[in-house]
Amino acid sequence: MITRRPRRNRQSEVIRNMVEETTLGLNDFIFPLFIIEGQNKKIEISSMPGINRFSIDTLLEEVNSCVELGVKAFAPFASIPEQLKDKTGSESMNPDGLFPRAIREIKRNFPDVVLMTDVALDPYSSDGHDGIVENGEILNDETLEVLGKMALVQAQAGADIVGPSDMMDGRVAHIRKVLDTAGYHKVGIMSYTAKYASSFYGPFRDALDSAPKKGDKKTYQMNFANSREALIEAELDTQEGADFLMVKPALAYLDIIKLLRDNSNLPIAAYNISGEYAMVKAAAQNGWIDGEKAMVEVLTSIKRAGADVILTYFAKEYAQYIRR
Ligand code: PBG
Repeated sequence: MITRRPRRNRQSEVIRNMVEETTLGLNDFIFPLFIIEGQNKKIEISSMPGINRFSIDTLLEEVNSCVELGVKAFAPFASIPEQLKDKTGSESMNPDGLFPRAIREIKRNFPDVVLMTDVALDPYSSDGHDGIVENGEILNDETLEVLGKMALVQAQAGADIVGPSDMMDGRVAHIRKVLDTAGYHKVGIMSYTAKYASSFYGPFRDALDSAPKKGDKKTYQMNFANSREALIEAELDTQEGADFLMVKPALAYLDIIKLLRDNSNLPIAAYNISGEYAMVKAAAQNGWIDGEKAMVEVLTSIKRAGADVILTYFAKEYAQYIRR
């Protein structure tokens, strides 16, 4: 009888590295950015230590420092002043709004970076919902009209990939049609395919002041108890023409990442969201865990589960970490 000794392959760092199955690289990451109106502003988000809201001028400096570190893909989000919010999120369709202006400026200064832009009503909605609200109901098809126009404005501003993040039915097909009709067939769609109604979005909603004024998002975001339903969403997004499928959040949903990986040949993205970032930071600040090691472990687990692309607030910190 041969004695199996798996520890043989763990006995030295060189051997451990040799048999390492999962490797993270900066090419895997998309770094979310928060944009605010004004000049020379850089305001830290209190629940997300190390992550700031930038005015367009300081945002360009941030993009520059990321690019120098090797982070080249970004997911910008705009924080819209309350007085510009309304029932239909009309500011989202304004080509001179904060968001399209920021996209244009980034692309003008850094033509080679990739921008994945957020297509959803919530930062623009006076109700704080991802769809138009009527008598407490989130309207689907009426919302699609706005999403199509919003995606077009973003494509015209220079978005490389649009990211519908609202979970309305039929949005990928509708956005694809609008973009193609206007000649933007090269603009990709990264669909937030399996986006769950999660309590981990808290810090993000603070950052954008985008929390629902009433109710929750359970009539459009998925029930976290469900996984087969993610396959239905994946099938639809694929038929509708998505270029990437995304799972969100990532950490409590590693099984869903794996499920989509095993059932699709499209690239799979995962969004390591604000609350997941905040948990690591909070525990690290208390001295309860080693934040840097936890960061590497978290990101590796998401890649190991099957994500090709990881949206993460750790992207820049990870780039700094591997430089040392
Ligand atoms: C909404 C949107 C959310 C996030 C990205 N787009 C939150 C929500 O659904 O309320 C969350 C990202 C994060 O928490 O990091 N369209």
